[in-house]
Amino acid sequence: MKTITARLKQRSYTICVGKGILAKTGSAIKQSGLKGKAFVITNRKVGKLYLKPMLSSLKKAGYQTTSYVTLPDNESAKSQVQLGKVYAAMLTAGCDRSSFVVAIGGGIVGDLSGYAAATFMRGIPWVNVATTLLAQVDSAIGGKTGINLKEGKNLVGAFHQPGLVISDIDTLKSLPRVELKTALAEVIKYGVIWDHSFFEYLEKNMTKALKSDLNVLTKIVLRCTEIKARVVEKDERELSGLRAILNYGHTFAHGIEVASGSWRKSISHGIAVAIGMVAAGELGQRLGIFSQKDQLRQIELIKRAGLPTRIPEKLSVDKVLKGMQHDKKKKGNQLTFVVPQRIGKVVLRSDCSPAKTYSVLKSIQ
Ligand code: NAD
Ligand code: GLY
Repeated sequence: MKTITARLKQRSYTICVGKGILAKTGSAIKQSGLKGKAFVITNRKVGKLYLKPMLSSLKKAGYQTTSYVTLPDNESAKSQVQLGKVYAAMLTAGCDRSSFVVAIGGGIVGDLSGYAAATFMRGIPWVNVATTLLAQVDSAIGGKTGINLKEGKNLVGAFHQPGLVISDIDTLKSLPRVELKTALAEVIKYGVIWDHSFFEYLEKNMTKALKSDLNVLTKIVLRCTEIKARVVEKDERELSGLRAILNYGHTFAHGIEVASGSWRKSISHGIAVAIGMVAAGELGQRLGIFSQKDQLRQIELIKRAGLPTRIPEKLSVDKVLKGMQHDKKKKGNQLTFVVPQRIGKVVLRSDCSPAKTYSVLKSIQ
């Protein structure tokens, strides 16, 4: 097992990455100093796979536990209704300010559980046991928690750092292939925004990653975790612009998701991010700051991950452009794009006219 520390002063925490470590969660929590009752949140699918070893590890470490496994297995879990049910179950279980939450699952369980922890009795600690590749490389790190509103995704939330993150690579063995593949878009993102040699590693090992080679997945999770932790340490609340680079490809992706029938899953987020990164590369070329050679490398790697690189014909580019206007990160009327300069380096640009953005979108359909 390897550990990475997210250094955030009094909110610092350890992220454990390794094979077979879920069954050691209880002792890791004890070592982190958390006391009180553990309220374990998951859904039935993940619960069937991992709740039993989790509960026995917590009990072995001396924790009293209550589990809540009835979260729906889709975005509706991140709702005010489900949040209300979780609070009620926590009260019934006798949770108080000395209790803590343990989330086991992907980004959906993590975001909802983290937000429940952030708000229950004005905030209690939580532990994120991440069981999807997306959660292990992205959502479990950095403390963004929240729920959706009918108007859009992640519109209500809080920054609430976990007290501990457990990323057991063995849990990825049971992950559906489509979940692995779509999370690879976010993995490639880290190579483009931060680390050329990691990008090269992905070029060499993408086939193995797709076959769920656990050694390759361990390296991927470790490197992405390190990069995300370093970014979050420097800009925890997304104020300086640095954390915004984690949204590489996401402004275009947001438009694609909205145009395809909003966030209710007609085009998955990972697929939209893959196409969004190609669009950002195209924009970089038009701005004269990103070479065609690097754009072709980016496109090739995305293709090798089995992800699309063009906007589907059935989507209206006008609707994509319109959908992009609702981006949460918009300041005033101006969209800010994360644009690549080379593989491993991106910049923020707010000087792209709607006409330029439209022609970028058109060129990749
Ligand atoms: P998810 O949570 O829906 O998990 C994907 C599917 O895999 C689900 O059906 C889940 O039940 C199942 N699953 C989970 N672990 C499994 C395992 N080990 N074996 C078999 N099945 C398993 O999806 P996700 O991609 O992990 O997360 C998406 C969510 O993350 C979105 O709501 C998004 O907004 C959020 N997100 C948050 C952040 C953040 O910083 N907080 C960052 C990125 C994304
Ligand atoms: N997933 C983007 C962020 O955590 O800031």
